[in-house]
Amino acid sequence: MAKAKTVFYCTACGNETPKWQGRCPACGAWNTMEEHVEKPVPAGRPKPAPGSTGRMPQRLREVDCGTEIRFSTGMWELDRVLGGGAVEGSLVLVGGAPGIGKSTLLLQICSQLCVERKVLYVSGEESERQIKLRAQRLEVAPENLYILSETRLSDIVEAVEQTRPDILIVDSIQTLYNEENESTPGSVSQVKDCTMTLMHLSKNAGITVFVVGHINKDGNIAGPKVLEHMVDCVLNFEGDPNTSYRLLRAAKNRFGSTNEIGVFEMGDRGLLQVPNPSQMLLEGRPEGAPGTCVACVMEGTRPVLAEVQALVTKTTFNVPRRTADGFDFNRAVLMLAVAEKRANMKLSLFDAYINVIGGLRLDEPGADLPVVLAVASSYREQVIPDDLVAIGEVGLTGEIRSVSNMNQRLSEAARLGFKKCVIPRNGTEKVEIPCGLTIYRVRNLREAIEVVLA
Ligand code: TYD
Ligand code: MG
Repeated sequence: MAKAKTVFYCTACGNETPKWQGRCPACGAWNTMEEHVEKPVPAGRPKPAPGSTGRMPQRLREVDCGTEIRFSTGMWELDRVLGGGAVEGSLVLVGGAPGIGKSTLLLQICSQLCVERKVLYVSGEESERQIKLRAQRLEVAPENLYILSETRLSDIVEAVEQTRPDILIVDSIQTLYNEENESTPGSVSQVKDCTMTLMHLSKNAGITVFVVGHINKDGNIAGPKVLEHMVDCVLNFEGDPNTSYRLLRAAKNRFGSTNEIGVFEMGDRGLLQVPNPSQMLLEGRPEGAPGTCVACVMEGTRPVLAEVQALVTKTTFNVPRRTADGFDFNRAVLMLAVAEKRANMKLSLFDAYINVIGGLRLDEPGADLPVVLAVASSYREQVIPDDLVAIGEVGLTGEIRSVSNMNQRLSEAARLGFKKCVIPRNGTEKVEIPCGLTIYRVRNLREAIEVVLA
């Protein structure tokens, strides 16, 4: 009989090592190694486990896959992030900081899901009574919704076998525990174990499983990166808890793209979908103030307008300070260097703070030009017209380059009542100009600044 093996898992990244170490060799985190005793494996050739399917390899062309069955969750913002609805038999992990609204979202979708399907909602965090009270507040009172307040994995599996739901919701994975595993609930090995069991349930019985996972302060789903490898979709629910807006983003999706975002607003009666995110992101924009410019970026298939703000002030440090919120820091530093060299701004004597309003992250090239223009506007203390949108990538020689989906971006700008748009000269000869929009085609940064801050 082989001896029980002790391994250590890092609670931050899930890395496994045979010895305890003060610092995880994979992610560099201190004091995160946690002991876990693995059950001995009988020596010799592994026998098929009881319940093993004894499957043999099949020719790909002979595999019968049927059709991928998707169904709507009743929230089109969520459907879009999932790639056009939830896929039957998939396992979706919904991550987010505590209090962001994960439980609210999942309880809310029950009202639509229950119309044609049986749903089991398992909560390890709230009692049945608490769930009922929340459901009443959200005005969710479906016929086919079963709730269970339980944390023991074996009991949950039994409940699933008895209830035979089409959809299983588990809130949250960190509260579940498998008795056979001696680690504490929420530890890497427990979370891994429980997810694996849910995964088997989902794949064998064709149950669609939604699992809630809390994230730690670094923004990773607590403990295990390993968990992300196991599931079909990872959705992150983000947003500033002090504001009511929430963004849902796919970090991984085996059944669709990861570019789409879903936008929600938290109200008195739960989450409301925001069909028009541009309007929301531009709300309360200061008028006639220097240092702000409107950008138009593609979020998946949707064009979204957002405000970029910049503050440029004389530095009192040896090395000027730069911060970028909602925009890649290194890209921001690069843009400041290009502006200094190609547009003759003495930015190395100034601190520069860049901020994207509304919690959106602008990580596409089309946001370069509005960032540089906001900086130029603050540097010169000159106002950019309120009805102007800037779109374009800025190259190292200060040239403005074309970006994708120009037609869609321009129509979104026109739809929201913008009158002027600065776009690259090259590569935009064929774009359709919506009526009411004046286009300024620019070749380089100097031209753009001249047009905007005339
Ligand atoms: P919750 O879904 O419990 O968060 P999570 O499961 O991600 O931890 O949401 C909790 C927050 O949402 C809480 O701060 C209160 C707020 N909230 C509302 O503003 N309106 C509502 O109708 C509900 C149900 C919650
Ligand atoms: Mg919760």
